[in-house]
Amino acid sequence: MLNLLLFLGLISTPPAILAATIYNPPLYSADSPDDYHDGPIMQWDPETQLFYRYAMAYTQCPLAGAPSTATSMLYKFLNSAVQSLAGTGFDCAPILSPLLSLGFGRDCGFKSPLSGQTVRVHTSADLVNWTVKTNNALEGGPDWLLDSILFRPAILRNPVTKKYVLWVNWLPRDEPVLASYRRSGYAVGTSDSPDGPFVNWTRPAMSHAGGADFSLVFDADAGDAYIAYGSWHNYAVSEGWRAEWYPDWAKDGHQIAIEKLDPSTFVEPAVDSGAVTVTSAPQEAPAFFKRGGFFYLVHGDLCCFCARGGDAKVLASRSAQGPYALVGQLNAWGEDHVPAQNSDVFEVRAEGARETTYVWAADLWFSSKSGMKGDDHQYWEPLVWEDQEVEGLGTVPVPRRAGGGKWMGEWELGQHPKL
Ligand SMILES: *[C@@H]1O[C@H](CO)[C@@H](O)[C@H](O)[C@H]1NC(C)=O
Ligand SMILES: *[C@@H]1O[C@H](CO)[C@@H](O)[C@H](O)[C@H]1NC(C)=O
Repeated sequence: MLNLLLFLGLISTPPAILAATIYNPPLYSADSPDDYHDGPIMQWDPETQLFYRYAMAYTQCPLAGAPSTATSMLYKFLNSAVQSLAGTGFDCAPILSPLLSLGFGRDCGFKSPLSGQTVRVHTSADLVNWTVKTNNALEGGPDWLLDSILFRPAILRNPVTKKYVLWVNWLPRDEPVLASYRRSGYAVGTSDSPDGPFVNWTRPAMSHAGGADFSLVFDADAGDAYIAYGSWHNYAVSEGWRAEWYPDWAKDGHQIAIEKLDPSTFVEPAVDSGAVTVTSAPQEAPAFFKRGGFFYLVHGDLCCFCARGGDAKVLASRSAQGPYALVGQLNAWGEDHVPAQNSDVFEVRAEGARETTYVWAADLWFSSKSGMKGDDHQYWEPLVWEDQEVEGLGTVPVPRRAGGGKWMGEWELGQHPKL
């Protein structure tokens, strides 16, 4: 009878209890089932609980120019070597790469949306079986967007306009790619549907030029939204004789700042919001989210498509623009370090679960079996929370990885956050 009523559509289908096994296969053992990297997962609709994944597609090409995996491996080696020698504050090998003619910055990872490196929209009911919903979320966009280099999308829904607002890190194409980075910023498009395509593209003026990795947070309690963003021109060395005499690369750029978004649109910073810098050394790959009364900002040492990954420091504050305190670390350097770069902390709300599960997602650059960038994996692990006393903040629930810091090859989604 129930089946018949469901069939006739007389009663609505209850949302299924989410139970799925999430796998993190060993490095180089498999290819990712789809071309999705570095972007958020959202559950827009509490009824259907459908997951939307906004991610970069990188296509079937090896990183670093030449069409051979050997070059890709050489790049990987150089990148690690440079970072080991120069320390974690040093960005990657594109600095060396033009000298070595490796082609970094011209090929895989730096293609335009016209060549397939674009934002795709994927959907899934269970976080395992994904369907490509929109192959190019930028379809029909302006030339400056379609012939550019894009990284790391993020998206919010504005509760006033009901529009979905997609932000993407935008770089004009230039030679060498370092020149692109210096002029980088963001592109913002809107859509009436979570599927896109996104239209009305603009390039918002930010307090700090040279926009890099970023993350967006919506504060449902206040109806406000914020961006946390790194930028090439947000220097730690910004005053005194050093600021005047040091070359740009020695001024420790890439600080992460937080800026409020215009509440009525979310497509640009709020007028006079000001940017608050919350780091004191070069950092990137922020993931910004709110849980209970706390804002959390996870970020790590610089890693530009690097094989060794980054760390994932956790800052917390009771207010979006700080002050923040360093409260934890999701991926400490050392023996058990996961060679992945922080991407996002996404929320899983499922019927039957006692509370929202927060999942740490990080990009495993150079992890595919094929050597193709589009086949690289992400590493996912659920977070558990533990109260800690933090000076100035009181009792703060601090996240740590459910597996205790070791690589988790598989875990059951329905069983968290029981661990
Ligand atoms: C995956 O999801 C699609 C779309 O919802 C569905 O048609 C298909 O049967 C699913 N496949 C599996 C193996 O669950
Ligand atoms: C794009 O801009 C036009 C003109 O302002 C407006 O009518 C339309 O609603 C906008 N579309 C979206 C999806 O924001």
